[in-house]
Order: sequence, then structure tokens, then C-alpha cells
Amino acid sequence: MTTTDSSPQHVHAELLCANEANIQHCATALRHGQLVAFPTETVFGLGAAVTQLAAIQGIFKAKGRPSEHPLIAHVAPGAALTGWVAEVTPTMQKLIDAFWPGPLTLVVPKGERMPLEVTGGQNSVGIRCPSHTVAIALLKATGVPVAAPSANRFGKVSPTRASHVLAELGDRIPFILDGEVPEVGIESTIVSLLNDQPAVLRPGAITAAQIEAVLGVPVKTHGEVSKTPNANPRVSGALEKHYSPDAKVWVLEASELEALPVQYKTLCVGWTDGFLAQADALRELHADVLVEALNNNASDVAKALYATLRQADQLACKQVLFEKPEETAQWEAVNDRLKRASA
Ligand code: TXA
Ligand code: MG
Repeated sequence: MTTTDSSPQHVHAELLCANEANIQHCATALRHGQLVAFPTETVFGLGAAVTQLAAIQGIFKAKGRPSEHPLIAHVAPGAALTGWVAEVTPTMQKLIDAFWPGPLTLVVPKGERMPLEVTGGQNSVGIRCPSHTVAIALLKATGVPVAAPSANRFGKVSPTRASHVLAELGDRIPFILDGEVPEVGIESTIVSLLNDQPAVLRPGAITAAQIEAVLGVPVKTHGEVSKTPNANPRVSGALEKHYSPDAKVWVLEASELEALPVQYKTLCVGWTDGFLAQADALRELHADVLVEALNNNASDVAKALYATLRQADQLACKQVLFEKPEETAQWEAVNDRLKRASA
């Protein structure tokens, strides 16, 4: 028996709207060692109070995730960090002041109260303060940090709707809190403060340049970090294939896409195919294809990305085609998720 056992637990999740009574109910459930999925501004998280070790194990079991993968601890705005992290250094404080609440996870030396079960046995902890009003209300009512990975099965696309969580984890967890659709849509930026130079371990809505501007020192971009041998293998988001839908994802240059329509229509006869493109020229494609025309805007694409990949699976699409975004800092996080989805 391992913690990656993914057999159904035969519970049936209650889907709860985020009113005051339900938030209190879920906070009590967390304090008593139950799992609660909840919305954040990035993606839905699968939460357990960090002090409830059996519940922490339950997260790994529900997700089918290896237990040496560390979890992110979520805190309410202004919550005291004493004991949860070793020390709030001036660097950490600057980032907290600039970006919390918001989609930035800080990897720092852990405090003595933070269980190793949360950190995957490491002496560091990933900690963040989300900005979603439901997450904030839940964290305030719970009163201790809440460990929460994305509320999906291991290797699958992160959920951006309560219905996604219900479909994947509804038979394994007791409560799902609903709320406003996540504004960001992809997971938080993770920055490590463990070494002299801060380093982005996972790109997200907050870029290395923004962090650099606040700290006034150079920050290693995710691109630089991933070129370094022995880059932290414990970041599950760093696994080559992750965030995958069932449909085959292709990321193609605009020129390759422009050459596609004829071939495409020939190809898709008799079966459902998927299509997502930002290119204006491709918007008129429809019929038996799913066209999700998005603005050529990285934040809009990030917000819609995972829901679109899931939609493709729901429609039993065989393929989803993306136009390759520019290789700019603004698009780094989207490019990162597309690369993994298509690996
Ligand atoms: O936006 C987010 O960060 C979402 C929402 C729910 O907050 N959470 C999320 O969690 O994406 P998860 O578990 O899917 O990804 C957390 C990442 C993992 O790749 C994990 O390995 C990394 O954070 N991480 C956590 N603690 C770490 C540590 N001490 N050192 C290195 N990486 C760490
Ligand atoms: Mg995840």
C-alpha cells in the first residue's frame, strides 16, 4: 500500500456555494482533519490544515501524487508566519509587501511548526497568500496555514472550475467550495529564496522582471534555472510531462497553422477534433472543430487555457492545435504550460 494509491474512496463531495455558513463549515472541517477543495485566484486547491497529518496524507492519496512532492502552504493576509517559516528576511518581506495577497509562492527555510509531511521531507517550505476572496475568508476562519496543491489528479490539468474538481475528485473528498472563476488561471509563480540569488522555479503571472524590480537584485529566470543541471526535481510542475489533457496538444508556428485548413478539414472527417488559436486568420474555422478564439493577450490566454483543454477532452477531441506564442517574458508562463501539455 502506498500513498499514491488512487482507488476511489467512495465518498461523495458536497459542492457548496461560498456563503458565510459554508465557509465556517469548511473551516471547521479543515480544523478537524477533513479535505476541502477551494478556489484561489490561480487554480482550485485541495486543502488540508498543515497541523492535520492524516489529512495531509489524504491529499497525496486523493491526487495519486508521490508523497515526496512538497505542498504549498497557504496563509491569510497578515497572518503571523512565526514558526511556519524559519525567519521573515528583509528580502521575503519586500516580496510579501509587493505581491501578497497574490499569485507568488516563496520557497524559504521552514519553521519548526511546519511539518515535514507538508514539505516532502525538505527543510524548505513553499508559502503563499492567495488573493481570492473565498480563499482568504476560508484561511482566516481556519486559523492555521492550509496546505493545498492544485485540486486535480496527479499529472492532469489544474482545475479552474468547481465542476472540474467534482469530476476528478468528487468520489474522494468531502467538500468543494465554489466561488468566482480564478482570475489568473494558471498556477502561481514559485520563487526560491534559498540561495544567494532568488530563482524562479515555476513561471507564473508574476515575472522574474517584476520580482527583480522590487528586490533591486538579479533574479534567475525559469529559463536559466531549467538549464542548470540538478535543477530541483522535487517541483512536480518541473516534470517534463505534466498538466496534460487526454487530447494530443500541438503547438505550431503561425505559418504551419496557416498551411493547415485544407489538410485539417481532410483530416478531421469522421472524428471530433479540437482547435484553439489566437491567430485572427484562423477564427473563421468552425464546423466540426472547436474554435476558441482568444485575444492575443497572455493574461486572457492563461485564464482560459486549462478550461479549454478540459473542454477539448469533454468533447472527445483528438487534438488541440495552438499557435505558438512569442518567446517573451510576458508569455513565459503560458509557453511553459503549453510545452508541458504537448510533451
Ligand atoms: O497557484 C498555485 O500555486 C496552486 C494554488 C492551489 O495555490 N497550487 C499549486 O500547487 O500549484 P501544486 O502542488 O500543484 O504545485 C506546487 C509546487 C510543486 O511543484 C511543488 O513541488 C512546489 O510547489 N514546491 C512546494 N514547496 C516546495 C519547496 N519547499 N521546494 C521546492 N518546490 C516546492
Ligand atoms: Mg499541480
